[in-house]
Amino acid sequence: MRAFIVVGSRTTADDQFSLDNLPASSGRLDILLRCIRAALLTSHGLRTNTLLYLVLSAGPSAPRVLRIRGDTAVFLRPDERSLAVVVRKLLGSDCDRDCEGFVDAKPGMALARGGLATALADRSGTRLYMLDEHGSDIRAQSDLPNIDVTFVLGDHRGLSPEARAELAAASPLQIGPVAVHADDAVAIVHNELDRRSAENHENM
Ligand SMILES: C[S@@+](CC[C@H](N)C(=O)[O-])C[C@H]1O[C@@H](n2cnc3c(N)ncnc32)[C@H](O)[C@@H]1O
Repeated sequence: MRAFIVVGSRTTADDQFSLDNLPASSGRLDILLRCIRAALLTSHGLRTNTLLYLVLSAGPSAPRVLRIRGDTAVFLRPDERSLAVVVRKLLGSDCDRDCEGFVDAKPGMALARGGLATALADRSGTRLYMLDEHGSDIRAQSDLPNIDVTFVLGDHRGLSPEARAELAAASPLQIGPVAVHADDAVAIVHNELDRRSAENHENM
């Protein structure tokens, strides 16, 4: 699987936010919801080869990680409000309280108590990249894997020094010369990998 881990620096891990004032009431959950669309939805379906982790860092239940699997998730729609409703229901679940690791809350959707380290542990053994404006150009990476690969990115505040310290083993990767929004960064990485796998199929 391809995986993306998005670190929400101040995003709530609880269900106490307003659908009518999402950015201010949720610590910018809207950014992470757009990453759900970019990571898991194509024009007419789901990316069954992709996993998304949202690291939620604020509120009484934090830190907490929401994991969504493209191969088994249901009821994912592209609009932000529908996604907010799904995530609010999930965060209202107590299924992960006092549990180790990820606990299924709905088909394809699981919760875990823990932060970035918990998401990284779930992806151990995969090639790890940190999306960073100052990293190596993605287009110069001839050996970028299509599967068993994990990309970590920040929200509007970028990755904190603490998150960067946890990512010491990750290779910094630049996706282009301009800093873009997190969901656009996810879409660009997908596009790079999609192009490469299409080329590989053509050459077979
Ligand atoms: C809106 S950007 C964050 C901008 C923030 N001011 C910063 O200094 O990091 C969100 C995330 O997308 C990723 N990103 C955005 N543009 C990128 C680029 N050109 N190359 C690599 N990663 C990028 C980074 O992981 C970044 O943390």
